[in-house]
Amino acid sequence: MSQTTATTAGLQDVVAAPSRICYIDGEQGILAYGGYNIHDLAEKSNFEEVIYLLWHGRLPKSAELDELRANLAANRAIPAELIAMIKSFPAGTKPMDALRTAVSALGLYDPDKDDNSVESNWRKAVRVTSQIGAIVAAFHRIRQGMEPLEPKTDLSLAGNFLWLLNGTEPSEVETKALDIALILHADHEFNASTFAARVTIATLTDMYSAITSAIGTLAGPLHGGANEAVMKMLLEIDAPEKVDAYMANAFAIGKKIMGFGHRVYHTEDPRATHLRHMSEATAERQGNPKWFAMSKRIEELVIAEMDRKGKKIRANVDFYSASTYYMLGITVDLFTPIFAVSRISGWTAHVMEQLQNNRLIRPRADYTGAMPSVEYVAMENR
Ligand code: ACO
Repeated sequence: MSQTTATTAGLQDVVAAPSRICYIDGEQGILAYGGYNIHDLAEKSNFEEVIYLLWHGRLPKSAELDELRANLAANRAIPAELIAMIKSFPAGTKPMDALRTAVSALGLYDPDKDDNSVESNWRKAVRVTSQIGAIVAAFHRIRQGMEPLEPKTDLSLAGNFLWLLNGTEPSEVETKALDIALILHADHEFNASTFAARVTIATLTDMYSAITSAIGTLAGPLHGGANEAVMKMLLEIDAPEKVDAYMANAFAIGKKIMGFGHRVYHTEDPRATHLRHMSEATAERQGNPKWFAMSKRIEELVIAEMDRKGKKIRANVDFYSASTYYMLGITVDLFTPIFAVSRISGWTAHVMEQLQNNRLIRPRADYTGAMPSVEYVAMENR
């Protein structure tokens, strides 16, 4: 007999702690940061303002936003030793592995690493939020045999990231598209990676350890890794006329369709609504309907199939971000690292919130093994 009470597989619907950062209504498809609806933020705000909102719980005044922008811009460069370390990674290292390792190492160069005071954690939050994109871009350039670029302080976080990645000044349209994507991915309550960060920091270790846990958690295909998996599926199908046959087979063999389903949303993920628009708009702007058309058809077929089975499975944030990023010319295995470039804002907000009212996070197991009365069996008698 178990010592503990009921188990909730996957901690579904378990409320683990209070949080003021992010509101989700999974039945109605509502997502809000600090009370501001995600649709409003995506249309009217910018990523820097959203970072401020997540960190402080309110929108910044003009001078406060200027100060945050200046602070982020001043902290963009990553240590030369870290660049040397990234150069030493084995050929074929996956970007999320590189990012996890590099962010962990970044802490070694931060004099504030082991100081968990409020002021020190603000400084670290700024540094890691500013530098995570530089790490992704440096890794990408190094693996192509190129040197990392110097950051530009006059560009937004999104603009500077595109500059560091591609070595050309991004257009306004590209920068805006990425900025909106960063807003949409910035936070999502106690998702797996954020929860991992909170569990880690709750032991009173350092922020870099918490973010390293989060990055490792985000990488999996059931979480942030799904956007890359969606694009791989689209590339495998490769033509709109092949979608129906591919999906019929996928349904027949019971294949999980990446980019669909969500633990909390039982209706459309509101982020997917925006990303669908973005994917469609990008396709129209570029005169390249293929990837959007294929995605749209897949979505129709998945909804019909899932409704037929009585399951409320809808597109999640990862489904239309895949075609959008691909059309924006972003390399497929950078899709999940870009998720991290955005979600760092939420992770750091949650780390700081956890520390404000900390208690060790330590649940119990529903023990299913033998009860503790088994007699030890000597090796020769086993
Ligand atoms: N394709 C086909 N069937 C699905 C899918 C899917 N994408 N998602 C859920 N289902 C089915 C399950 O097979 C299950 O069916 P069953 O009751 O007959 O066994 C039922 O719907 C419930 O699904 P669970 O996996 O139990 O739901 P859970 O809440 O544990 O998982 C998750 C949620 C992991 C997101 C799941 O929907 C999934 O694996 N989706 C694909 C991966 C993905 O897109 N992940 C990104 C999520 S968003 C994010 O993390 C940023």
